Amino acid sequence: MKIVIASDHGGFELKEKIYSYLLNKGYDVQNFGTDSNESCDYPIFARKVCNAILNDDFNKGILICGTGIGMSIMANRHKGIRAACLSDKYSAEMTRKHNDSNVLCFGARVINEDTAKEIVDIWLETKYEAGRHQKRVEMLDK
Ligand code: RB5
Repeated sequence: MKIVIASDHGGFELKEKIYSYLLNKGYDVQNFGTDSNESCDYPIFARKVCNAILNDDFNKGILICGTGIGMSIMANRHKGIRAACLSDKYSAEMTRKHNDSNVLCFGARVINEDTAKEIVDIWLETKYEAGRHQKRVEMLDK
């Protein structure tokens, strides 16, 4: 599985921690920035990540901003992207099983590092159930 991760300035520090965490776990993960605390625009980073997934360069994306909300709004404007803005483990599991979400968004000002790591682990490891959910997932892009 190939993963791409990015953030704006609000998510920069947590993004660096999650990036290192995934590298240490042996994931194939690429960092699309931002690379500092300097103010920047989250839609630019969301767009880069979503286009890379839609081009099949990556399977899944992780986007972090202050709340996760701006990133998820932008990501979900891309047909074929199913972004989930998460702050709990139950939703992380269910959005993989039921929505086949391919982008995970969260807020660095909303959840702490340990919770973020737990959510990332569950989200990356949980398989899509397909079955009765497939028809609904297809409806999202119609
Ligand atoms: C930046 O201050 C903040 O607006 C951004 O990180 C994000 O939370 C937007 O949704």
